[in-house]
Amino acid sequence: MAPVAPSTSCYTCSCTLTAGTMMPPRRHRLLFLFLLLLLPVMWADPEGSCKLHLFQTFIFHNNFVDISFWATLEDIIFATRQKYTGNILYLHPWVYPALPAAEWENLQNLFKVYVHNFIRSLSSDATLYKIPYPFVFQGATGCDLYPNGSYTKFYHLAYNAHDFLSFDVDKSRWEGQQECELAAQVERQFNTFTGFSVTLQHLLNVTCVDHMKKFIEYGRSDLERQEAPVATVFARTPRPDQLLLVCRVTGFYPRPISVAWLRDGQEVPPGPALNTSTILPNADLTYQFRSILAVAPGDGHSYACRVSHRSLGTRSLLIPWGSSKVALSVGVTIVVLLTMAAALAGVIWHYRRRS
Ligand SMILES: *[C@@H]1O[C@H](CO)[C@@H](O)[C@H](O)[C@H]1NC(C)=O
Ligand SMILES: *[C@@H]1O[C@H](CO)[C@@H](O)[C@H](O)[C@H]1NC(C)=O
Ligand SMILES: *[C@@H]1O[C@H](CO)[C@@H](O)[C@H](O)[C@H]1NC(C)=O
Repeated sequence: MAPVAPSTSCYTCSCTLTAGTMMPPRRHRLLFLFLLLLLPVMWADPEGSCKLHLFQTFIFHNNFVDISFWATLEDIIFATRQKYTGNILYLHPWVYPALPAAEWENLQNLFKVYVHNFIRSLSSDATLYKIPYPFVFQGATGCDLYPNGSYTKFYHLAYNAHDFLSFDVDKSRWEGQQECELAAQVERQFNTFTGFSVTLQHLLNVTCVDHMKKFIEYGRSDLERQEAPVATVFARTPRPDQLLLVCRVTGFYPRPISVAWLRDGQEVPPGPALNTSTILPNADLTYQFRSILAVAPGDGHSYACRVSHRSLGTRSLLIPWGSSKVALSVGVTIVVLLTMAAALAGVIWHYRRRS
């Protein structure tokens, strides 16, 4: 298959990070040594961007609003909002030291005012337009920094899972994204809050990138964390005339990975026989992926799954289909040889004692 398009990664962002080589963690090391093959791999580093994003969900019920917030640096959730106090919760030891205490206090105050006013104005609009409860507003905001130093910034708001409103940071204007009275009303209303717009513009145009650089500096070890993939190959037989070879790769970090099937040592090109999953998250901030190749049983070819990942450096994992049988027969041979050697030693010892 074609390599999975490596997603852009903060790791490659020139604003900070230098590549380091690390051994895989100990629990993977044995497997790593067994499976490792010296194959040159071209790492075509994508133009990476660094991302600092803030996600918010407001679920409006009749008599209360359920609020959640989380902030991410790349795919690392580093801060959330404490449910009852509304204070910022710092989820990694490097988060709080990255900014001066006064700045955290300032952000927390701005944030509380924002939440308060957001809920108040949307609640009154909901009443005005007789919107049935419950309804949901979801916000995504933040900035993306590119290696060339340019950056983009955004604030998008969705209402019941549809685009609703956006903030044009450069123009400092709210723009409705829906042809409905509610969107028009909220757009009008938000555009009258000039203090809010000016603050938001500054936060997104200046503060976001400044703070991102700090977080990248302080959170470097988390961003550079590498977990080596563990790959297994097994087969399924959905029909007697079809064998599905499954290459399951899991436990890797960061997200970009390249997985290919080899038929007699040649890479199988993309086609109807090949089916791949998307890269899915595990609970421990590692990822999993699978690639499935349909083959005819007993077609006489040899198959292997090849996995390349940043944690492996220039080497790849190569897992041949049926390798467990080979390993088993080698194991059995060794046991037989050892038994024979022991028997021979026993015979010699016996003979010597007699003579
Ligand atoms: C910087 O890189 C981004 C992403 O590759 C690109 O969209 C943008 O046009 C570039 N800006 C400049 C000034 O080169
Ligand atoms: C955003 O920040 C850049 C760089 O600091 C500045 O040149 C630009 O004028 C700012 N834009 C707005 C709309 O404030
Ligand atoms: C690929 O796998 C998905 C999920 O198992 C399945 O729904 C789809 O039909 C498969 N596609 C092909 C071409 O086998």
